[in-house]
Amino acid sequence: MADEKTFYITTPIYYPSNKLHVGNSYTTVAADAMARFKRMTGYRVWFLTGTDEHGQKIQRQAEGAGKSPREFVDEIVAWIKELWEELDISYDDFIRTTEPRHMEKVAKNFTRYYEQGDIYKDKYEGWYCTPCEAYWTERQLEECKCPDCGRDVELITEEAYFFRMSRYADRLLAHIEANPDFILPVSRKNEMINNFLKPGLEDLCVSRTSFDWGIPVPFDDEHVIYVWLDALSNYITALDYGEENSKFDIFWPADVQLIGKDILRFHTIYWPIFLMALDLPLPKTVFGHGWLMLQEGKMSKSKGNAVDPRVLAARYSSDALRYFLLREIPFGQDGIFSLESFINRINTDLANDLGNLVSRTLTMAERYFDGVLPQPAGSEETSDKELREMALQTPGLVEPLMDELKLGDALAELWQLVRRSNKYIDENTPWALAKDESKKERLGTVIYNLIEAIRFISVMLQPYMPRTPERIWPQLRIAERKDLQSFESLASWGGMVPGTVVERGEDLFPRLNLQAEIREMQGDPPAEISDDPEKPEQQDGLINLDHFQEVDLRVARIKAAEKVPKSDKLLKVALELGPGEERQVVAGIAQYYEADELEGKLVLFVANLKPVKLRGVLSQGMLLAATDDQGNLTLTTVDRKIKPGSRIS
Ligand code: MSP
Repeated sequence: MADEKTFYITTPIYYPSNKLHVGNSYTTVAADAMARFKRMTGYRVWFLTGTDEHGQKIQRQAEGAGKSPREFVDEIVAWIKELWEELDISYDDFIRTTEPRHMEKVAKNFTRYYEQGDIYKDKYEGWYCTPCEAYWTERQLEECKCPDCGRDVELITEEAYFFRMSRYADRLLAHIEANPDFILPVSRKNEMINNFLKPGLEDLCVSRTSFDWGIPVPFDDEHVIYVWLDALSNYITALDYGEENSKFDIFWPADVQLIGKDILRFHTIYWPIFLMALDLPLPKTVFGHGWLMLQEGKMSKSKGNAVDPRVLAARYSSDALRYFLLREIPFGQDGIFSLESFINRINTDLANDLGNLVSRTLTMAERYFDGVLPQPAGSEETSDKELREMALQTPGLVEPLMDELKLGDALAELWQLVRRSNKYIDENTPWALAKDESKKERLGTVIYNLIEAIRFISVMLQPYMPRTPERIWPQLRIAERKDLQSFESLASWGGMVPGTVVERGEDLFPRLNLQAEIREMQGDPPAEISDDPEKPEQQDGLINLDHFQEVDLRVARIKAAEKVPKSDKLLKVALELGPGEERQVVAGIAQYYEADELEGKLVLFVANLKPVKLRGVLSQGMLLAATDDQGNLTLTTVDRKIKPGSRIS
């Protein structure tokens, strides 16, 4: 169809020299969210990823592993494909640069460049480090030695093919300046112009003779094609560029090429010039995102489980990992990846905000209406109107943010709706309405609106967390209702059909114990309780807000208390934390309080302590109490009446 909207998005193709870490997965998860979003909003999408398999480094690593390069890469590529499956990466094509469909076209393009004078043969002169098998320019040497290994280098002259970059430099500069979206974020564009284009482009050596794991130069088999010329071409060879009626005709130029900032120069200088020389249009946007770092510096595979995306996805779910990657770091900037911040995000955004919204709402629907979705009243109160309006506005706010590749901001916008829905529960106190038969209709409206808001949220979650909507929809009984899962269905409020029998399912994201996770995954104490004198937190005794927020402090209502047998210090206390949520704690307060004077008190409670047994009795948290130096103790309470379960922050 001529007026069909298309969207072509690519990731870098990864070196299968090692398994990937969570930093590498970042681009691919972001590209996947974009691809899914565009599909959901009616585009015909092509999403390409793959592996960059040639080059000296891979050849050497294969030798080191006692394998042929082919065997070596096959194993890692299989691992990478499994990773993408586990992270729900919905790519349309996976290109390997060792596939004939790619190699043949790269060779053909090389010949064309040569025939039209873009590539010429010349002598290459450079300082060669034999152990590293690497050439260096005079400027790159450090004290006349190899900058990598520090050993002696020798001046070597050999034949090589060169690409006449200078021929296209002015055109490229003009293109970059005339197309403000070509290199994003903008800061990176200036870096490319000032550091590389303005000082003048040198011709690029595009062949190698020192190894043979590459695409041979078709008319000179002493040489293999430089790995970047080979690799960059994947974005068009995978579309069958050069063939009749190919995907290339439909999808090129790419709409978005996502890459890490470290390979921006290759993608915004070499790549456009290679394309210009083929008379092809340039990609609309090349977006260089920032890096995921560890607190201690660069990420590497040797950091083990804590950076292994497959381990993280298996333990915490791929949706949680995807959410964290997309939400935590503003796309474009560098950010810190830590297990702590990951677990905290799971506990706050996924367990407290989203998970609680779904489980509270469905519990109430079951409790008050046997799960039968009530008919909402014809009239609206202010909170109903606000919730409905926000739900209807959110898709329109998310879409332009996605177009600007502000994935984290788009998720933040969606979470405003999640939080607004939770606030709606607090404003309308369904448990209070349920006590009054005359408020039954109002209660029905509140439950209906909440279920409809959850539907809105679940639909919009799809691109970022594809598995979660599939866990929510059966609870809303809309697993088969494709019409109610579509983005278009969010154009109007009220899609959920009264009378539908909804059913609470398992909790979406159970809360995690941070310390236990860190111990389990890293095998050592978390940074903030280590005695590392370098840590500022330890030096001044201060903690930051994140640390405080790890404690889930709540108001609890004491339902009953009794003495723990054979103990004169302990009371067993039954607590209510909101509708249907009960806990039991064992508190060392028997010398200060009689069991029967406690009933009805609103006390402060730590809700996320790991359960323990005291005198054989289960204790699921801790009551807060103040003690003075005279040995007096008082339970801490609240100043005014507030409903059990309220958070203290
Ligand atoms: N093979 C080339 C790309 C060729 S594209 C025609 C390559 N491969 S890579 O495997 O080394 O890197 C792939 C991508 O992972 C790059 O975009 C790089 O920026 C990204 N990342 C590597 N470590 C990263 C982080 N720690 N954080 C975010 N991205 C990271 O380069």
